[in-house]
Amino acid sequence: MTKKTLGIGMVGYGFMGRAHSNAFAQAPHFFDLPFKPVLKAACARDANKLKPFADQWGYESTETDWRKLIDRKDIDIIDIAAPNNMHMEIAIAAAAAGKIVMCEKPLGRNAAESRKMVDAVEKAKVANMVWYNYRRIPAVTLAKQFIDEGKLGKIFHYRAKFLQDWTISADLPQGGQGLWRLDLGVAGSGVTGDLLAHCIDTSLWLNGGIKQVVGMTETFIKERHHNLTGKTEKVGIDDASLFLARYENGSLGNFEATRYARGHKALYTLEINGEKASIFWDLHDLHRLQYFDHGDEGITRGWRSIHVTDGDHPYMGKWWVPGLQIGYEHSFIHQAADFIQGLGDGKPASPTFRDALATDLVTDAVLKSAASKQWENVA
Ligand SMILES: NC(=O)c1ccc[n+]([C@@H]2O[C@H](COP(=O)([O-])OP(=O)(O)OC[C@H]3O[C@@H](n4cnc5c(N)ncnc54)[C@H](O)[C@@H]3O)[C@@H](O)[C@H]2O)c1
Repeated sequence: MTKKTLGIGMVGYGFMGRAHSNAFAQAPHFFDLPFKPVLKAACARDANKLKPFADQWGYESTETDWRKLIDRKDIDIIDIAAPNNMHMEIAIAAAAAGKIVMCEKPLGRNAAESRKMVDAVEKAKVANMVWYNYRRIPAVTLAKQFIDEGKLGKIFHYRAKFLQDWTISADLPQGGQGLWRLDLGVAGSGVTGDLLAHCIDTSLWLNGGIKQVVGMTETFIKERHHNLTGKTEKVGIDDASLFLARYENGSLGNFEATRYARGHKALYTLEINGEKASIFWDLHDLHRLQYFDHGDEGITRGWRSIHVTDGDHPYMGKWWVPGLQIGYEHSFIHQAADFIQGLGDGKPASPTFRDALATDLVTDAVLKSAASKQWENVA
């Protein structure tokens, strides 16, 4: 029997356009899904750059205006892999047209935008999801399993860092292709919405809600050449962002993100300390979960490095034989597979737009606290 298809309309052909296209192409090969995703159309403004992307990934057609993509009857899912300033307008229009909407993170440039997006998808009753892909790295999913099973007991500390070093040069311009992340109007914020948003999403999932934060941000390079205006302009984004958090479960959080940590390219690490056990995970070693169990016999007690590649580890039964690793791109494949499975089951896969709004409420509070120099409540 042929499976019902899901026509994908992809907005953006950059880093995430490629990651998502790969996810939709691979997911049905490795997961038995209720629908078959079909790469119907890729969309971006520049037809000349779009065409080679569409050909390389096997899209059936292209569109240079996202409104036309939304109007098409053969498109079931609008997938937004464009810069942050495009998310709200496209998502709201797609929901109003009755399309399923998938969107990259952060959901909006701030929580006010995200709220409007949540209202739009909930009013239209369309399935929706945000690509917080780190939840679906098997070692991180295993951490969630350990916490839910009570292996850590009461949690005291949550510690996360996301460190990069690519904006240290004062000669680096802001704005335009590849550098929109440095342009406040497009990005909404700097590392707070870009990098910390990932750390916060994972933490809300693993450790529950955050009540209060106190934060500190810095913009080390105050002015940069702007690629779109051709002038030297003030830099409005935060280059570094650090905050402390109080969780609803009584635990304390400690977060840091920067693009000024020389030597680090994408060092996302998290550590959780509970009364019975601790866990540590590192994106550079993403297939391992470090685990310390105080219940182990004293003479052999110590940190174990669990190689998360066995068939009974999350997602790993779908891949190769035990001991063989998978990588970064698989987190997107897992997310696409879970989402499509959720459509079949009638159970939305997380994080939904509403789940992702919770992250934007925390990033808003962090930026508010950095400005007020006070503790701020998360709305
Ligand atoms: N989940 C993750 O780990 C992750 C990683 C990187 C980026 N992101 C998010 O993904 C989004 C895209 O980031 P990226 O790194 O892929 O950016 P990118 O600059 O590599 O690509 C952006 C794409 O959007 C297209 N675009 C821009 N304006 C458009 C418009 N008006 N209409 C149609 N297309 C348009 C560009 O042509 C380009 O193809 C951002 O929201 C970013 O925060 C998430």
